[in-house]
Parts: sequence; structure tokens; C-alpha cells
Amino acid sequence: MALYENPEFFLIIPLIVYLLYLLSRRGKISSEPTNWPLVGMMPAFVQNLHRGHDKVTEVLSECGGTYEVKGPWFCNMDMVFTSDPANIHHVFSKNFSNYPKGPELRKIFEILGDGIFVADFELWEIHRKTTLSQLTHAKFSSSLERTVWHKVETGLLPVLDYFCKQGTDFDLQDIFQRFTFDNICEFVLDYDPCSLSIELPYVPCEKAFSNVAEPLLQRYLIPETIWKLQKWLKIGNEKKLMEASEAFDEFIYPHIRLKNGEQENDFNILKAFEKVYKEKNIGPPDGLRDFLKDTSLSLMFAGRDTTSTCLTWLFWLIAVNPLAEIKIQEEIETQLQLKEDKKWRFFNVEESCKLIYLHGALCESLRLFPPLALQHKSPIRSDILPSGHYLPENSKLIISFYSVGRLESVWGKDCLEFKPERWITQSGGIKHEPSYKFPAFNAGPRTCLGKEMAFIQMKMVAASIIYHYNIQLVEGHPVIPRASIILQARHGLRVRLSKRNV
Ligand code: HEM
Repeated sequence: MALYENPEFFLIIPLIVYLLYLLSRRGKISSEPTNWPLVGMMPAFVQNLHRGHDKVTEVLSECGGTYEVKGPWFCNMDMVFTSDPANIHHVFSKNFSNYPKGPELRKIFEILGDGIFVADFELWEIHRKTTLSQLTHAKFSSSLERTVWHKVETGLLPVLDYFCKQGTDFDLQDIFQRFTFDNICEFVLDYDPCSLSIELPYVPCEKAFSNVAEPLLQRYLIPETIWKLQKWLKIGNEKKLMEASEAFDEFIYPHIRLKNGEQENDFNILKAFEKVYKEKNIGPPDGLRDFLKDTSLSLMFAGRDTTSTCLTWLFWLIAVNPLAEIKIQEEIETQLQLKEDKKWRFFNVEESCKLIYLHGALCESLRLFPPLALQHKSPIRSDILPSGHYLPENSKLIISFYSVGRLESVWGKDCLEFKPERWITQSGGIKHEPSYKFPAFNAGPRTCLGKEMAFIQMKMVAASIIYHYNIQLVEGHPVIPRASIILQARHGLRVRLSKRNV
């Protein structure tokens, strides 16, 4: 009788698997995933998918900040995870030229085409220079102040007032996403879609941004052949990505109006890119519209999701730390002299810079919930990280920004506490932390170009809300991060408002 025909054979299989499990766990730290034959650490990935960022943090804090993850055999899914500041400094700054985004990332984020987030080398330099020229343009600061305040006055506060009067709860994250979407469209496309209005209209492109974050992360977690098959069959996450891509195209293309050398003012980001596309021969003439669409899409990603996510976590953090909320209220009242005002009162960029405690609170939100939670790098040449880990050429290095902010070794024993004070110097100024320790805005030559813009926007929005309303969380509503590239609150942030200062 053949072995497999014997029923006892099938009883032995679970026993062998269990013994292999015990063997594989010898001498391991408690949170370390088991490396199974054939499937590698895949089962641990799947089991912890819903709390991926926390699982990674547990493992990284127990093993000193860097960990080698083994994927299934023959699937090219092995990766090194790190949150060690020395490694971050090494990769993002000191050895920047050896760590481009790489072709693997371009494949995973193909939806972004030739936009700045996936560009490397010369194309990236062109993107960076052109975007920077607009963000430092003489007209930028006043235009930003005007558009942000206009949106606060005509969109944000009327909508919040409506919910406040109705006494109904609503999703504050959705409100922030609409706010930042309208704002960034105005900057990039010179068009305000007014997604933030009392009717809360459904704008497919606006929602598509939220719909792609999870499917993109999952492309990292399943073998390429499988997601490519899903794409071919137009099913599952890949279907979601295709639908989102269509929504982006339908929204953006009609707003790309080629200037063809028209003499207009030089403060127009797409016009600046049109000029540079032609001057630098980036592609064929009929590729210009696609290039401008890709450029717009990356900038819209940059502007919508990051800022709205930071604001969402800020409001959750101050709702669960009411003392901090009181301190922010006091600061607004003393620094902006708003006490006597009965109406919504404009305050400018200069005044918002006086809000030091609020700045610290925003930094805490970014430290504990960095909107871009992960980064992916791929060395061109093999390298040894300062932690001693070896990286073969073209291997995958995943940097967890989420974990850096939660490591005791980096931020001290109180690392999980919300303490805006840690960002304030003894003389009352804003404390600077090196980007390898606080990488929410990235580190090195690819540091975020919109950092100042984001702080201005976030302070104007947060101060306007905190000055006018008390915010209560809806009891029992779970507020947890999404397992995605962008660290949105998975079920939103449901709140109720009551009026202050009336
Ligand atoms: C709280 C808000 C923000 C955070 C936390 C943030 C964070 C980041 C991070 C982590 C990167 C690196 C991304 C990568 O290389 O994959 C980045 C890049 C970038 N960000 Fe921001 N960002 C914010 C707001 C903005 C805003 C409002 C803009 C305005 C358009 C902006 C524009 C950019 C651009 C253009 C890049 C690409 C830089 C490059 O690759 O050279 N960001 N940002």
C-alpha cells in the first residue's frame, strides 16, 4: 500500500507542520513572524493585515529597528524593514544617489505615470525644480492665503455650522479631504470643484484618492503574478485601481488647457510644466497632455491626502487629550486676539506663525500618525546599512515612518504620549528635530516641497475650528488607522459639534 493511502499519514502532516513551527521559533523574539517553508512569512502578513503598521512597529522595536522579512519562495518578495534613524540618514541623505525609487516602485504605482512621486534622476530633477519655482513664486504666499481663507469662509465654516445647528454627527475626515481636494485643485488646475459644500456632493475623483491607498499597499503583499492576473481579469483590488484611474482621467483631462506659448502670467503650475516639457524634450508632442495629467495627479495626491490625514489625527488626539485642546484655545485667543470677535475673522499667514503650541500639536500628530506611513527604496548597488544589514542590488527596503515615531529608543519612554510641549524650546520657539528622527515630510533631497504650505493650511483650518466649536467624538465609533500607504482613519472620524465663542 502506498504511504499516502494510509490514513495515519494524514495525521502525521499536522504534527510535522507543528514541529517545524516550534523549530522555526527557537531563539526568536516574541513578536517575530514565523518563516514557513515555501510560503515564508506570508501567513503572518495576512493574519496581521488589519493592523499591519502596529505589527511592524512591534517587531522593529523588539529587534532594534531593522528586520529582514522573508516572502514566499521564488516570488521576489523578500524585503528589509527599517525604522532606524541611522539607516534613514544613510539611505535618504548620505547615499541618496544609490537609492532611487526604482523600477519596482514605478510598477506598483503605475497609476501615477510620470509624476514626481515615481520619477527618478533627470525627470525627478525637472519635476522638483519646476514645482519649487511655483511654490516659491512671489505671488504664491498671498494666493495661498487667499484661497485657503476663501475655502474656510465659504466652505468649511458654513458646512460645520450646518451640522452644528442640526445637532447631527458627521465624518470630519471626509470634510478635511474635501477641503484639501478643493484647495489643491485650485492650485494645480486653477479650478475649484466645490466638493466642500452643504450637500456634500459625490465627486468620483475626490473619493478615488481614498480608494486607491489600500489596493496599492496590497500590491506589496501579494506576488506580482497574482496582482497582474487580477488586473487582467479586472477583479478585486485591481478593479478598484482601474476605476480610480478612470475617475482621475475623467476629472483631470478636461482641465488641462494647453497654453501653446500664450503670454499669460508665469504663476501657473501647468503652464510652467508645459514650457519645460517642450524645452527639455521630455517626450513627443502628443505626450504633453498625458504628462500634465500625471504631473497634476501626483500633486493632487500630495496635497489632498497628507494634509487631511494630519488634520484628522490632530482632532482625534486633542479630543482624547482635552487639556491640550484648552491650551490651543487659549493660545488662539491670546495670539490672534479673537476674543472680542463675534464673526468669523480672517487671520493671515503671519499671525498663524504665532501659534506655537498648535504647531507642536500638529508635529505630534505627524509623529504618531505620519500620513505617508511607509517609504520604499531600492539600492542600485549592493550596500550595507549602518545597522549592519546587507542589501543586495535592486532589493526592497521598506522604511516605516510610522514606527520611527513610536520607538522608545528614538523618542523616549513617553513616545506614545501626545505631548505638544516636546516641540517647544525653553525660549518658547519651535524645536527643530532632524528629519531622520522625524521623517513625516521625508528626509534628504526628496524632502516634501509642500511643508510650509501644509502648515499654513492646517493652522488656518485647525484654529478656525477650535476657536468656533467644541468637538465631541461619537462614542463607540472606532478610530483606527487604515492598513494602507496613507494613514487615514479607517472608519473616518465621527464627531458632533457645539458652538463656542457666541
Ligand atoms: C501634512 C502634509 C504633508 C506631508 C506629511 C507630506 C509628506 C511628504 C512626504 C513623506 C514626501 C515624500 C514622498 C515620496 O518621496 O514618496 C513628500 C513629497 C512631496 N510633497 Fe509633501 N507632504 C505634505 C503636504 C504637501 C503639500 C500640501 C504639497 C503641495 C503640493 C506637497 C508636495 C510634495 C511634493 C511635490 C513632493 C515630492 C518631492 C520630491 O519627490 O522631490 N506635500 N511629502
